[in-house]
Amino acid sequence: MIKVGIILGSTRPNRNGEGVAKWVYELSKSRDDADFELIDLKDFDLPLLDETAPPSMGQYTKSHTKKWAETIASFDGYVFVTPEYNHSTSGALKNAIDFLYKEWNNKSAGFVGYGGSGAVRAVEHLRLIMAELQIADVRAQVSLSLVTDFENYHVFKPAPSHRKNIHQMLDQVIAWANVLKLLRTEEGIDRSL
Ligand SMILES: Cc1cc2nc3c(=O)[nH]c(=O)nc-3n(C[C@H](O)[C@H](O)[C@H](O)COP(=O)(O)O)c2cc1C
Repeated sequence: MIKVGIILGSTRPNRNGEGVAKWVYELSKSRDDADFELIDLKDFDLPLLDETAPPSMGQYTKSHTKKWAETIASFDGYVFVTPEYNHSTSGALKNAIDFLYKEWNNKSAGFVGYGGSGAVRAVEHLRLIMAELQIADVRAQVSLSLVTDFENYHVFKPAPSHRKNIHQMLDQVIAWANVLKLLRTEEGIDRSL
């Protein structure tokens, strides 16, 4: 069974991202074409990148890097739940992405953005980053507005139409994850690990 990690990309106290990521996770539970897990960056408590060698060399020395690498390697695809900070994604998510390399390769990804303008600029930046990591990012994306999907910019009340968008995005993430798994696998051995 394909495994999809839903990555909660904000870490600040009282973050709106927690409600959004939990909502995505709850919706994903109605599906039987993949297993889903919620990955909260806060639980990993990653410092600013502190490895000596570039991540593409895979010479991880710190226990927090190894734990993060093991988690990310165990998934076939990802949903990045991202806020928009100054027209980009959060520093915390960018830093967490930068820690690793091969664990991301030949996987698929979709996006759920939230912000004043649906975090579309943050998602566009993430799409550029995906190319360098050899992640196939899908077209369908979910854009949630602080104005119309939150009460008082904080209480999450998503418009019902977003449910369909979530499933469209997950359909694409899972379809590509299945195909890319074949690319990574030779006689049952996952070459990305
Ligand atoms: C540092 C910072 C920068 C922000 N910049 C933008 C922005 O450029 N565009 C936007 O639409 N919203 C912006 N916002 C609003 C956030 O998208 C909104 O507060 C969102 O809820 C943040 O996610 P979080 O609560 O999960 O941290 C910014 C918020 C913060 C904290």
